[in-house]
Amino acid sequence: MTTSSWSSFAKYFELLSSPGRPSADDIAFVRNQLLSLNKPINGILLGVTKELAKLASEEINITAVDNSLEMIKHQWIGNSSNRTVILDDWLNLPSQFTSVDFVIGDGVFTVLDRKSSHLLMECVRAVLSDDGIFIVRLFCSPEMRESFEHIYHNTTNNLNAFEWRLAQSMCDSNFEVCMKNFLDRFKQVISASDIEHFGWTKEQLSTIEPYANSPCTLTFMTETVFKELCKEHGMEIINRFTGSYELSERCPTFVLRKA
Ligand SMILES: C[S@@+](CC[C@H](N)C(=O)[O-])C[C@H]1O[C@@H](n2cnc3c(N)ncnc32)[C@H](O)[C@@H]1O
Repeated sequence: MTTSSWSSFAKYFELLSSPGRPSADDIAFVRNQLLSLNKPINGILLGVTKELAKLASEEINITAVDNSLEMIKHQWIGNSSNRTVILDDWLNLPSQFTSVDFVIGDGVFTVLDRKSSHLLMECVRAVLSDDGIFIVRLFCSPEMRESFEHIYHNTTNNLNAFEWRLAQSMCDSNFEVCMKNFLDRFKQVISASDIEHFGWTKEQLSTIEPYANSPCTLTFMTETVFKELCKEHGMEIINRFTGSYELSERCPTFVLRKA
């Protein structure tokens, strides 16, 4: 996704809930993993996810990196003695950081195309210390594509879960889906009476309007493909956690370190 598409998204972010945002148990897992490093630690937050930024403390020093001024303006919870934000691209991390204890991120591979996913994994590996960890929540496609009928018949009032499932069912062979095509399909398959039936509010529906005319893509790798990506870049999975919200089974948090 481009910085301009994040600009149009920034003001709608408040309205998202899990799976789009990490839940309290996802965050507790990240905190425990960081504290298990057992020392004052310094690291990087990819983006400005406020639930993760709030983990900053005497023991946990966080520098957030985001390339959207609008997202920083609307979403950053503020600098403090152990938390700061810089405007930069994740793919520039190695020019700014070295030997950090951790990198954390939420859904970061979904906002990158496949090529950039490889570049990000390389950049994270390059900035981590030898015993540093990369903790990332992934939005995964199921290994078997779902039919629209199956998705529709299992739809609840969690709009974000429906969105993810519909988008995942439309992914191409690169696991990418164009946001504009997603919104067109949504409008084609969902009627006003569906919206009423599922109890989706106007406010919630406004969160997908920035997709209109967007040429940007979202990427939903399967877990198998993510594991291959890790292996290819010399990263070993040492832990995995799933929270307890709808679709959490497709949103695992992985802890990685250099193999
Ligand atoms: C971390 S991602 C996904 C959102 C996440 N699920 C949440 O709840 O916060 C969103 C953020 O990443 C930022 N972003 C996307 N691509 C980026 C890149 N290549 N470099 C730096 N920031 C990027 C966007 O500006 C946005 O603030």
